[in-house]
Amino acid sequence: MCRGLLTLMSWAWISLILSGSVLGFSTQYRGNTQHPTIPEHCYYAELELAVRRNDTSFPVDVPHFCAQVHCRDDYVLMIKHCDRIQLANGCVFTSNDYSLPYPDCCARLECD
Ligand SMILES: *[C@@H]1O[C@H](CO)[C@@H](O)[C@H](O)[C@H]1NC(C)=O
Repeated sequence: MCRGLLTLMSWAWISLILSGSVLGFSTQYRGNTQHPTIPEHCYYAELELAVRRNDTSFPVDVPHFCAQVHCRDDYVLMIKHCDRIQLANGCVFTSNDYSLPYPDCCARLECD
């Protein structure tokens, strides 16, 4: 098939993985997220989601969302995304399954 394109895509993935591990963007931190109305909860604006302090939410069935959302004691939200995985020879990534909770929604490496 179009092998050139596949190679290009692999390289795109690898540079994504490398920049990901350098920048460490698989966990995002967001401060000062105290919920405006519900006490003792963080507010995750993107999903309009309330997360209890010291608790973790695993949203499902949100298109293109595969992460866990933790509300720290100091109302810092920690959004943990899938770990970056290295593409290896003879392997392909499965697609994300957004109907499953993190980390089961993450793409996996499938090798022959
Ligand atoms: C959250 O966890 C910390 C550390 O375990 C604890 O000191 C604190 O009281 C907890 N806060 C709530 C609101 O549960």
